[in-house]
Amino acid sequence: GIALPTAIYPDRRNSGGLNLAVATERSTVGQAVASLDQSPVHVPPSTASSPAVEVVCPANLLRTVGRWHPATAADVDQAATKASQAFDRWAARPVDDRAACLERAADGIEAQRHALMALLIREAGKTHADAQAEVREAADFCRYYAARARELMQAPTPLPGYTGETNSLRHAPRGVMVCISPWNFPLAIFAGQVAAALVAGNCVLAKPAEQTTLVAHAMCTILRDAGVPTQALHLLPGTGEHLGPALLAIPQLAGVLFTGSMDTARLINQQLAQRPGPIVPLIAETGGLNAMIVDSSALPEQVVKDSLQSAFGSAGQRCSALRVLCLQDDIAERVLPMLAGAMQELIVGDPAEIATDVGPVIDTEALDRLRQHRERMDREARRIAAVPSANAAGHFFPPVAYEVDSLEHIGGEVFGPVLHVLRYDDERLDELVDAINRLGYGLTLGVHSRIESTWRRVSERARVGNCYINRNMVGAVVGVQPFGGEGLSGTGPKAGGPDYLRRLTTERTLTINT
Ligand code: NAD
Ligand code: ALA
Repeated sequence: GIALPTAIYPDRRNSGGLNLAVATERSTVGQAVASLDQSPVHVPPSTASSPAVEVVCPANLLRTVGRWHPATAADVDQAATKASQAFDRWAARPVDDRAACLERAADGIEAQRHALMALLIREAGKTHADAQAEVREAADFCRYYAARARELMQAPTPLPGYTGETNSLRHAPRGVMVCISPWNFPLAIFAGQVAAALVAGNCVLAKPAEQTTLVAHAMCTILRDAGVPTQALHLLPGTGEHLGPALLAIPQLAGVLFTGSMDTARLINQQLAQRPGPIVPLIAETGGLNAMIVDSSALPEQVVKDSLQSAFGSAGQRCSALRVLCLQDDIAERVLPMLAGAMQELIVGDPAEIATDVGPVIDTEALDRLRQHRERMDREARRIAAVPSANAAGHFFPPVAYEVDSLEHIGGEVFGPVLHVLRYDDERLDELVDAINRLGYGLTLGVHSRIESTWRRVSERARVGNCYINRNMVGAVVGVQPFGGEGLSGTGPKAGGPDYLRRLTTERTLTINT
């Protein structure tokens, strides 16, 4: 094997999982779903009692999954005070203790795998495979950041000095951090943000996406059971519009970790800019308009398989998802009929069924936006293929593909199972990459080519955070493919990468003249 530098690849293993191909293993998830259906979750109010919000399953709007109570601005202020009071004690705990909490939390996630998968299936509309991948990713984040914190924060790093002088640098916790997360990875991204901030010694106010509060609540319970003090972690459920202004105004704020849309990131940035006092750092991981470039040397069968998975897996609701498949003229006529045929095989439906490939989209707003885009594309572009219409019990949007004339024609990130296809002439490959760069996003890029000089040229020219050659372009693995973009896709640092924790700490240099 390759000798990996331990400072970047801490010694730990990624999480395993169930073998979903085996009926007995699968049935354990089915039992957890049935038990959730019988006993929906009730998240009790924290302090002030507000009317409950009912959670309905996006795959079946008649099914209740649970209920929760929105926090108020007063709850935010109280949580901020308690978190700030708890900060000195939590920050002073040896990093080993904090890391051990995360490792116990990872064990807790795995021990509750079935219940978490059931929640992800019912509350977020995840398929079995996506739910399992998310459970594993959440556990991986906990173990990775635990290991990384030990390396980074255990002892100061010695630095060179003049004779008689010693210098060192250490990473210290920042204070109270606000974590704001999206619904599309309600467990993994929520857990990743919160676990990283905590293990670095910060206290956390966590605001999950309003669509997926139940999953976030389950994760907070696991962290607390693993030893994270109640006052170090506060869950503040509610909409961004209501709670965002209160969260971003707390005087104790030491940093914001945000994952979601660029529009929201801009609002947060504007609000932070209005604050008096010190500048508060913002980490924003946002959307993408991701392309896959396929030249005529590619294997059509593999291109079709990887395109389907990247564009329609998770119902296209991944920031990393493929949105525009760029086919060199020579190969387009071979790939397009195969793609259209393969799309007919996709099963759209209830994600509680193991055979389902594409579950629902998250809510009515998402469905309306996708329908509007489809109407515009039907007027302006050539429809290549569409999956037959799906069951109407939930928010279903069957995958569809269009041939477009230009990248601009798409009009920004389309967050769902819509694939756009653009043909290009091989002599204009560099121009194509430049046009992709000009869109301003920079999250993922796929390249299918068996000509090494081509994929090297493209991957060096493209301004993206994650570039995948001759494979699908989703499902980055913690510590293996650190994930995150640039430009309109985010500020960095990469989630699940060696530098994430550095940005959640403050650096202190000590110079001793002896
Ligand atoms: P969103 O921006 O609507 O919401 C994200 C979070 O921000 C939610 O918790 C929401 O309640 C909160 N929010 C909304 N308005 C707010 C405000 N004014 N102040 C403070 N918080 C506010 O995004 P979404 O629809 O939940 O998620 C989908 C988006 O997230 C897509 O653009 C997707 O590409 C992106 N995403 C990016 C990554 C990444 O790693 N780059 C990962 C997942 C999702
Ligand atoms: N990290 C997720 C992926 O790579 C979004 O698909």
